[in-house]
Amino acid sequence: MDKYNSVIPAFGHMIHGADYNPEQWIETPEVWDEDMRLMKLAGMNSASVGIFSWSMLEPEEGKYDFSFLDTIMDKLAKNGMKAVLATPSGARPAWLSKKYPEVLRVTPERVRRLHGLRHNHCMSSPIYRKKVSELNKRLAERYKNHPALGLWHISNEISGECHCELCQENFRSWLRKKYNNDIDKLNHEWWSRFWSYRYNSFDEIESPSPIGMQGFHGLDLDWKRFVTDITVDFFRCETKPLHEITPSVPITTNLMGFCPAIDYRVLAKELDVVSWDNYPMWHGDNQQNVASTAAMSHDLMRGLKGDKPYLMMESTPSCINWVPYNKLKRPGMHILSSIQAIAHGSDSVQYFQWRKSRGASEKFHGAVVDHVGHENTRVFKEVSELGDILKKLDDVVGTRVKSEVAFIHEWPSAWALEECQGFQRHEKKYRETLNAHYTPFWKNGINTDIIGAEADFSKYKLIIAPMLYMTDEGLIKRLAEYVEKGGTLVFTYISGLVNENDLCWLGGFPGGKLKEVFGLWAEETDTLYPGQYNMVRLSDGREYKAVDYCEVVHPQGAEVLAEYTDDFYKGCPALLKNSYGKGNAYYIAFRDTGDFCNDFYCELADSLKIERSFDGELPPLVSAHSREDGEHKYVFVENYSDKQVKLKTGTVYENMLTGKQESGNVDIDGYGVKIFKLRK
Ligand code: GLA
Ligand code: ZN
Repeated sequence: MDKYNSVIPAFGHMIHGADYNPEQWIETPEVWDEDMRLMKLAGMNSASVGIFSWSMLEPEEGKYDFSFLDTIMDKLAKNGMKAVLATPSGARPAWLSKKYPEVLRVTPERVRRLHGLRHNHCMSSPIYRKKVSELNKRLAERYKNHPALGLWHISNEISGECHCELCQENFRSWLRKKYNNDIDKLNHEWWSRFWSYRYNSFDEIESPSPIGMQGFHGLDLDWKRFVTDITVDFFRCETKPLHEITPSVPITTNLMGFCPAIDYRVLAKELDVVSWDNYPMWHGDNQQNVASTAAMSHDLMRGLKGDKPYLMMESTPSCINWVPYNKLKRPGMHILSSIQAIAHGSDSVQYFQWRKSRGASEKFHGAVVDHVGHENTRVFKEVSELGDILKKLDDVVGTRVKSEVAFIHEWPSAWALEECQGFQRHEKKYRETLNAHYTPFWKNGINTDIIGAEADFSKYKLIIAPMLYMTDEGLIKRLAEYVEKGGTLVFTYISGLVNENDLCWLGGFPGGKLKEVFGLWAEETDTLYPGQYNMVRLSDGREYKAVDYCEVVHPQGAEVLAEYTDDFYKGCPALLKNSYGKGNAYYIAFRDTGDFCNDFYCELADSLKIERSFDGELPPLVSAHSREDGEHKYVFVENYSDKQVKLKTGTVYENMLTGKQESGNVDIDGYGVKIFKLRK
């Protein structure tokens, strides 16, 4: 049986839980009983424990003490809750750093860090690996039959890099393997006769550094890939004892959305279920942007495991504490932002944190239980209300998000684009561009997937790849096949420029066969200064602003749908469409300010008959998403504005929270959400 499915029976329902740090209250164990009472009151069924417990579990080297965790696990079980049990490697005890300085990270400047903070360990260190694996083995042995054990949570927000000698040596071995021990091959792929970078042997290679080699893109890219691989290797060392001792308990780790630190597509292969930490900054100047960016991040995280449900491992019930301005979520926003996760395929709403800590850096971070200690707070009440809602969503558990539209996002392409010198040197705005192309779908309530280059393209009517800088031979072939067989593909400026090692494609952009697929050749890219713009005119006379980038493109078979109106490339194509095989390929040669994308994608979605989640017009700041099983569709209509909205629909929906039928006029309160069920 697919291990993922066992997550759900273990919890039984939508998971509602929080990071729980009971060791901070060990001197007042009555707080633990109060926690249990309050957790039940808030409708929680899970608690993530042990995340930063190493110094409690192994207070001195080799001296283990699981007593507090035993008590907590028993209390959770007795109160009908499950533990998301963490391995505590995210932060190490002071004795470990003092006795074995090799466990501490070395910075890119080659300075060994001092003890402190989290995420400060070398993933290569044999001592760190041994200590972690020993502790994980004991955790697994101790709790393997414990009724509270529901899910393993490996480390915490695993990321980061170390430049110590052990890591350098591992990096060189990694390179030897990748380049078959052939230094000339590496020299070729890194284009190392540039600035006399050529190496005679692998022993001469060092990781990138601000005081040494930098901007050497082949090296940069391989270093980042190595960091991913050493992280995965470390991860395997963590999970080996867990797989052996508790083979039926699923494994996750909390990811961080678009975080560029490691290639999550590689790490996700190690997970039974994806989970991630979601901290949008609500109620700023552009609430729509925050909502659609959060939506896009949910889609990215879900897509790491196809259409399988995922977990939202962390979110704040009220405010964050680490962004520049830590604003409170307005009444309603907590339920709305939590249901947003469910709408995108999450089978959980989990928080950082259950109870505010009394001291140290996170004491003012939002929590379900505030320093006042009781349940009579605005936040606690809203969390409890959500707890009641989640209990009504059992039917939604395990259902899937079905999308006809996909965006391609690949970590190596994003890394290389970010590093590359040229265009707007420091502001490529890749993620903003992805979001600009994503937003029209969000506004129209159209489900979207975010996929990698290896995904099955055939199930999508439309694939969009904004600023896909890196396209290797295999991807080019698969994209060409996709269009040939009837798919619709959209590319933009600054796409298809380099291969997998960041070597430019020769013979014209976009690389290789993509020129045939799009029926064009992109000769030059003009980068405009801030505030400057050109105009783009469609054949029907509509005009749009072009900012930041205007590519000068020559049609080679493609139909020209729009042209620039100014500058030396006046009259040159700005939007092209090529029919290739049974499909169509569109090339958008300029960056717009939003209006063009909106019109273009709305028309394209209509012409491709792409399904919308809600039957009816959606006003600004309102979106809709859906999940489904064989028989039903579950529709989530989300209002991110502070005003009540009135929607019209011809469909009769069953409101899952009231059990009543709704049709004709549907009202949704400010920051409100409606959850509907519909027979398919
Ligand atoms: C991260 C960490 C948590 C906590 C929160 C605060 O997501 O995993 O331990 O520090 O941030 O927002
Ligand atoms: Zn190291």
